[in-house]
Amino acid sequence: MSDGRDQWKSKIGFILAAAGSAIGLGAVWKLPYVAGTSGGGAFFLIFLVFTLVLGTSLLLAEFVVGRKTQKPPIQAYKELAPGSVWHWLGVLGIISSCLILSFYSVVGGWIITYFVRSLTGSLTNPATGDYGSLFDSVISNHWEVGIAHLIFIIITILIVQGGIQKGIERASSIMMPALFIIFIVLVIRSLTLDGAMEGVTFFLQPDLSNVDGETILFALGQAFFSLSLGVSIMVTYSSYLGKQENLIRSASSIVSLSILIALLSGLAIFPGVFAFGLEPNDGPSLIFTVLPAVFSEMAFGSIFLSLFLLLLLFATLTSAFSLLEIVVSSTAKNNPKRRRIAAWIGGLSIFIIGIPSNLSYGLLSEWHLFGDIFFNQIDFLVSNILLPVGAFFISVFVPMKISRQDLKEELLRGSKLGTGFFETWLVVIRYITPLAILAAFLNVLGVW
Ligand code: PFF
Repeated sequence: MSDGRDQWKSKIGFILAAAGSAIGLGAVWKLPYVAGTSGGGAFFLIFLVFTLVLGTSLLLAEFVVGRKTQKPPIQAYKELAPGSVWHWLGVLGIISSCLILSFYSVVGGWIITYFVRSLTGSLTNPATGDYGSLFDSVISNHWEVGIAHLIFIIITILIVQGGIQKGIERASSIMMPALFIIFIVLVIRSLTLDGAMEGVTFFLQPDLSNVDGETILFALGQAFFSLSLGVSIMVTYSSYLGKQENLIRSASSIVSLSILIALLSGLAIFPGVFAFGLEPNDGPSLIFTVLPAVFSEMAFGSIFLSLFLLLLLFATLTSAFSLLEIVVSSTAKNNPKRRRIAAWIGGLSIFIIGIPSNLSYGLLSEWHLFGDIFFNQIDFLVSNILLPVGAFFISVFVPMKISRQDLKEELLRGSKLGTGFFETWLVVIRYITPLAILAAFLNVLGVW
């Protein structure tokens, strides 16, 4: 490339990084608890439709911007719309990424804590058999979760500062399939528990009478969150992509993987929830109370649990890298020294912003902001406001600032799909995506 930027050595490097960013806590931790509090099956169905229609189109739109300009987001928007305010879309992406990483790293810390405890045997068969109170006691241990939070951020910084994510992403080409396999074992165990079918019905049978404006907005936010959309991360990653790669094929692999893991995680969690008489609306602690219980019903359960947590930690880290990478690549350009400084300053500031989220389950549990704990409010702000807003503006920007000819050429290059696909995509990105996002907001505000 003319400016000497790195390119992905192979297409698989790009797919691994982009899929690594997409697949993480969104499908495994967030989807089950949001579905659990927002109507189960109906939520999942709406989430699927949003992912397939809006998510895929937006993923392609972010890919087009990145690959066309070969620049990180702020510069990319500047190049396509010189002298305008559009580069603020890149700034919005950086702010959203910092806020996401601030609470994402807290949950990353919980996984580290649970992993270490699973090795020492202090997670399986707690004396009371009550994994809910185990979670509460782990979480209220401020030093333990605080240090785990810091360790998670430091690992992220160390990897991102050297620009060596690619090595990790290669390792995750073994870790990801391993995570799938363990998930399948887990799903089989969950589905064969007594009372499991109630959970399957809850998760997969849509009861549309439960749907309200919030369910729709939450499903929209979840669809963007689990594909890492609306923050220009996919612009960043595709900016390193060679001109000859097929964007449509890459996008469909990422979307299918992400849906598959969401489905597996729902099928692992909800049967367990009902079989053990737990509540699906337990919130962010849901997987931490259900999964150890399901594993405890399995032969070699404690070994499987440790392995599962380790693999989940990998999946979580590859998403965290993408969140810090957008901050670092936007501020450090290609200078390795600035890269190191940016990674440390960015990462540690994000850690500090995350402290109130971390304490939300302990010391600050009584401190409510607009009626809920800080952790939930930051998650709400990012997932249900900032990501949809980012997605809205990207879907307005792309068809407005890139010529039809360029869009068509960039999107279809290397693909066998023809004009019909392009025209459909253009309608979805130009009209359906922005209108659906707008409608979801207006609906929640009670406009109709
Ligand atoms: N997609 C990631 C997950 O599902 O865990 C989370 C995420 C990463 C969201 C990057 C947004 C983002 F920009």
